[in-house]
Order: sequence, then C-alpha cells, then structure tokens
Amino acid sequence: MHLAPKVPLNNGVLIDALGYGVYKVPAPDCADLVSTALDAGYRTVDTAALYANEEGVGQAVRAAVDGGLPREEIFVTSKVWNDRQGYDSTLAAFGESMDRLGLEYLDMFLIHWPCPAQDLYIPTYKALETLYGEGRVRAIGVSNFEPEHLHRLMDATDVVPAVNQIELHPWLQQRELRALHAELGIATQAWSPLARGGLLEDATLAGLAAAHGKSVAQIVLRWHVQSGHLVIPKASSQARIAENLNVFDFVLSGTEMDTLAAMDSGRRSGSDPGAMK
Ligand SMILES: NC(=O)c1ccc[n+]([C@@H]2O[C@H](COP(=O)([O-])OP(=O)(O)OC[C@H]3O[C@@H](n4cnc5c(N)ncnc54)[C@H](OP(=O)(O)O)[C@@H]3O)[C@@H](O)[C@H]2O)c1
Repeated sequence: MHLAPKVPLNNGVLIDALGYGVYKVPAPDCADLVSTALDAGYRTVDTAALYANEEGVGQAVRAAVDGGLPREEIFVTSKVWNDRQGYDSTLAAFGESMDRLGLEYLDMFLIHWPCPAQDLYIPTYKALETLYGEGRVRAIGVSNFEPEHLHRLMDATDVVPAVNQIELHPWLQQRELRALHAELGIATQAWSPLARGGLLEDATLAGLAAAHGKSVAQIVLRWHVQSGHLVIPKASSQARIAENLNVFDFVLSGTEMDTLAAMDSGRRSGSDPGAMK
C-alpha cells in the first residue's frame, strides 16, 4: 500500500497531495471502486452532485470507517452544480449532497464552475461561508475560476478559498492562474491531470517513463506532485488505481521537469470556464 503525503490547506486542514477522482465512474461501480482506492491507500476522494455517484462514495467511506479507518483520515470533496447556484439553493443542494453521501460532515465543498453569465457565484460562495461557519464543511473553495472571478470573489467575501480546482496537465499548465493562487494562498488542484488519458500516448513521456521504469501516467502524476499541485486522477481498474498512487518513490530531475514544462500548448480537454453557462 502507498500513502500520499498530507498537505495543509490555507486553514490548516490536511488534504492528500494525490486523491481519487470519480467523474464518469458509473453509479453502480462507484462504491466498489472507491473501496478499491481506499484499500490501495487513497484517502482523498473527489465527487460532485453532477457525477451522480455521491451515494457510492458515501457507502465506501462508511464501510471503511466501519472497518476501522478513522473518518478523520479520509477527505471527501463534493461540489454544487451550476443549476443550483444562489444562496438558498446552494444550501439546499448541500443538504441533498449530504443526504446522498450519508456523512455527518463534508471535508470540502466547491463551486463547480463560476458560470459568469448567471452572475451568482458571490451569493453561492456566501452560502459556502455559512456552511463553513456552522462547521458542516471543513474547507470551502472554487473550481474553474479564472483570475477575474477570483479577484471579484475575494473583494466580496471573507473566507479565502482553500482550493481552486482547475484543468491542469502538461498541455495546459495555467501559469498565470498558478502564480495568482500562490500570491493569494489558494491551493491549486489539478483536474484531468492526465488530460483524460490523451497524454499517455506521448513519445517524449514514454522515453522518460522507460528511463525511470515507470508508466507515462506515473511520470505525469509525479510532475504534478513535484510542481506542488494537488492531483485527483481517475482510473477504473485496481491495477491503474494502485499504479497512479505509486509516484512517491522517484524524482524527476530538473532537466526532466524542463522537458515537461516545454509541453505547454494551451490545449484543453474540457470546457472553457468563461463559456460554461
Ligand atoms: N472540477 C471540474 O470541473 C472537473 C472536471 C473534470 C474532472 N474533475 C475531477 O478530476 C478527476 C480526474 O479527471 P478526469 O477523470 O477527467 O481525467 P484524468 O484523471 O486525467 O484521466 C482519466 C482517464 O485516464 C485513464 N487512466 C487513468 N490512469 C491510467 C493509467 N495509469 N494508465 C492508463 N490509463 C489511465 C482512465 O482510464 P480508466 O478509467 O479506463 O481506467 C481515464 O480514461 C475526475 O474524476 C473528477 O474528480 C473535475
């Protein structure tokens, strides 16, 4: 079993440097796959109302706790979906997520997308602040926020987001946003860290993988970890779930990190935050 190092968020709460993401994990498979991940040593799980698999996440977490794993060692993230933005509807959506998860508290709740056309992310975040103040969630944050959304949010609210979860991988390195996060004390969490698998065919990365006796996925995940990103790869087999966590026993050299830095092309595998309604 491998364990990822724990990293403090800006409020001192610990999160794992590498967790398990469950976007597109079908609901009937979710509890088994999350249990597989917890058995492999994962302690952070990333879900969302959109993924329609919160029940399975909660079932696996409760089973692990019943089996002796302390709840405090597990970190569960969920997110409010775009059609529930607004103060009251976000509070209601949180309650519905908690009912599906069947947990007493959530570790982190995020605004899934800023949806600037709706112009509701400020009251939505104020609802997150209320939940945080009530102790129902240990950390709050955002996802897919661009610099202009972060600046406006920070001017209008009190709690600095713990995390901005963004699409981030060697083809889309998000340098401006990462620098802003560092300045503001916001952790960068990388979604689609493997570009949804697209990066795994890259010949340069295959060369680095051969040199280290690792897989291409492990090279990319190691690059994330060494770059200081929190990372949440998704995988659907026991072997790949375990493989993705096994990245803490080798180091990429400065030259190898430069090789990965040179792959930045701005190529997205998901939606553009400014365009998401
Ligand atoms: N906040 C947001 O807007 C947002 C958006 C997207 C994703 N996310 C989060 O980020 C997580 C990860 O992103 P993602 O699922 O889009 O993409 P990803 O983790 O970059 O890639 C997942 C794909 O890579 C494959 N894969 C994973 N490990 C592999 C390995 N070791 N060898 C070969 N193939 C491997 C998976 O295949 P198999 O599944 O077949 O094993 C799957 O097709 C999501 O699950 C979700 O929690 C958040």
